[in-house]
Amino acid sequence: MTETPVEARGLVKQYGRITAVDHVDLTVNRGDVYGFLGPNGAGKTTTLRMMLGLIYPTAGSVRLFGRDPTTEGAAALNGVAGFVEAPRFYPYLSARTNMQMMAAFDGDDAVSRVEAALDTVELTARADDKVGGYSHGMRQRLGIAAALLREPRLLLLDEPATGLDPGGMRDMRALIRRLADGGMTVLLSSHLLAEVEELCDRVAIVRAGRIVYEGAIADLKATATTGYRLRTSDNTAAIAVCEAQAGVASARLDGGEVHLDAAEPAVAELSVALVESGLRITALVPDSATLEDLFFRLTEGSTPGETEVPEPAADVVGGVA
Ligand SMILES: Nc1ncnc2c1ncn2[C@@H]1O[C@H](COP(=O)(O)OP(=O)(O)OP(=O)(O)O)[C@@H](O)[C@H]1O
Ligand SMILES: [Mg+2]
Repeated sequence: MTETPVEARGLVKQYGRITAVDHVDLTVNRGDVYGFLGPNGAGKTTTLRMMLGLIYPTAGSVRLFGRDPTTEGAAALNGVAGFVEAPRFYPYLSARTNMQMMAAFDGDDAVSRVEAALDTVELTARADDKVGGYSHGMRQRLGIAAALLREPRLLLLDEPATGLDPGGMRDMRALIRRLADGGMTVLLSSHLLAEVEELCDRVAIVRAGRIVYEGAIADLKATATTGYRLRTSDNTAAIAVCEAQAGVASARLDGGEVHLDAAEPAVAELSVALVESGLRITALVPDSATLEDLFFRLTEGSTPGETEVPEPAADVVGGVA
C-alpha cells in the first residue's frame, strides 16, 4: 500500500453541461503544505468533495494513502480530516459541547483530545460560548479543531482563510504552519495567491476545472522571469549598445529604464560593453513578472488551452519537494 497522502488521476466531475473538474491529476507528498489555487468556480470545492468521498467522480480516481474514499468510505478516511466550504456546528450549543458530541461520534479516545484541540486553535477562553455567536474566523478555527479530533495525518481544508480579516488570515496561516511543522500533510484550497505563496511549497493552479500548473512555487517564480531592466547614465546610448550586442533580442525604453530580453551570459557581456562605451550602470536587474501577473495570465483569458502555460522543470512536476 502506498503512503502517498493524495493521488488524483484523471479526475472528472460533470454536472450536466458543466465540467466542474476536468481530468485533474495531482499528487500530494508526505509533509507537503500543498496549495490548490484557483479563482471562483474553478472546481476546488468539487475536487475536495471527491477527495473526502462526499460525491462520486464522473471518471478518474482519488487515493488517500492508497485507499479510495468513494468505494471504501470511512475506512479510506482513516487519518484524514477536513472540511469543504464552511464547517457546520449546532449554533445553539457551545463550542465545547459541539466538540464533545463530535468526539463521541468519532469514538476511540477522541473525547480526550477535545481540550487540546480547542487550545491549539486558541478557543479555550470562548469554548463555553454558543457557536451561534461566533465570528466567521472563530468558526473556521473551530472547524480545524474538529478536524484535529481525528488526529489526522492529512488535513484537507477548503479556503480556510477566506473571509477572515488580515489578522485572522495571519493567525490561520500560523496555525496551519504549526500543524505542518508537527508533521501533518496539508492540502488547502485558496483563491489568494499571496496566501498560498506564503504557506505552501507546492501548488496546483486550476482554471475552469483543469490544472494549468502543478509543481514547486519556486519553479513557477522562475518561469515568471521575462528579461532585464537596465538603468545607465544615458539610456538612449545604452539602447544602441544593446542593439549591437550579440544575444540581446530586444531593447526598448520604458519609464526611464531600458527593458531587454537576453539570457544571462549575454547580459554579462552587455555589462562590459556598456562600461567600455563610457556608460555608467546604475541598475541591471532581472525583470520578474510578479507571481500575481503570472497567476492572472494562467487563470484568466479566453478558453483554457489557449493560455500559454509555462513549462516547469520536468524533474519537479509530481516529484518530492
Ligand atoms: N452540485 C452542483 N450542481 C451543478 N453545478 C455545480 C455543482 N457543484 C459545483 N458546480 C459547478 O462546478 C463549478 C465548480 O464549482 P466549485 O464550487 O467546485 O468551484 P470553486 O473553485 O470551489 O469556487 P469558489 O472559489 O467560488 O468556492 C462551478 O461552475 C459550479 O457552478
Ligand atoms: Mg469553493
